[in-house]
Amino acid sequence: MEWRWTAGPAPSGGPAGEETEGVVLLRVLGSAAGGGSPQWNCGCPVCTAVRSGAGPARTQSSVAVSADRRRWFLINASPDVRTQIEAFPALHPREDRTTPLEAVLLTDAELDHTLGLLMLREARAGLSLYATPAVHKTLRDGSGLLPALERYCPVQWRAVVPGVGMSLDGGLSCRAFDVPTTKRSRFGPGEDHGRVVGYRLTDERSGGTLVYLPGVQALTPEIAAEMPGCQCLLIDGTCWRDDELVRLGLAGKTSREMGHLPIDGPDGSLALLPALGVERTIFVHLNNTNPILLEDSPERRVVEGSGMEVARDGLEVEV
Ligand code: MLT
Ligand code: MN
Ligand code: ZN
Repeated sequence: MEWRWTAGPAPSGGPAGEETEGVVLLRVLGSAAGGGSPQWNCGCPVCTAVRSGAGPARTQSSVAVSADRRRWFLINASPDVRTQIEAFPALHPREDRTTPLEAVLLTDAELDHTLGLLMLREARAGLSLYATPAVHKTLRDGSGLLPALERYCPVQWRAVVPGVGMSLDGGLSCRAFDVPTTKRSRFGPGEDHGRVVGYRLTDERSGGTLVYLPGVQALTPEIAAEMPGCQCLLIDGTCWRDDELVRLGLAGKTSREMGHLPIDGPDGSLALLPALGVERTIFVHLNNTNPILLEDSPERRVVEGSGMEVARDGLEVEV
């Protein structure tokens, strides 16, 4: 399996219909957590350093995937989706306002992952939306985002059932898996709110497999069981430390309490990930306070010294 990196849209931005090798391609449209980096109201050390050029700015959490480079699927729709599409020629529209965007898949109902649906409201033929019944319910009755969107364009909901494979167009298959979370406050009480999933994506021809897991509170044995045969894992890198926001005086909650496994510490992801045996691991959904955003920080060196990577906007991964 050969890995290739590109900084921009070059290999995937070719004309529609161009023959490719038949490998799944994932493009990181946005590598930051909610708020982006820097965040508009944040003067924390990392936001301040990013403003002065110590690392690239990052838009909010979303990726695009395709197996044929003609039909694309967004996983999560960030409020920055408009600029993310403009930055990626493979997603540009045709003269008749049809576009290569086939559908949006959601991992959860967080605002950073769903506000972008409203930015897609001009969709002429409607939007195709893959989400679990729990996420659909939150969008309908919790955030109210779905009824607002449906006043602009039809939305065709396709229910995501964890553990059940789905065949997406263009030779891409996909299976959601449950990601247990105790985070409920923003969604409502009970098990039918706040559900989070990860997606395992496989190229039906090459067998290349990626796992996209932008929100994970604990690496349970069930989640670890999704990794065999996966060549690349893109995983929640929200906070470096569990008490990152508390120490900075910016929030009263730890990373775990917000539904995100921290990177550092004896039971942090950096310590646990090697046992999963995945060839390539990339941190995504990076909060603006996380020092790994800075290219010359000691924390960034620790991540890279462990053979893991820090995503940036525009990163492309082929398997
Ligand atoms: C989270 O995952 O906790 C979010 O980034 C929160 C948000 O969207 O503001
Ligand atoms: Mn988020
Ligand atoms: Zn900040």
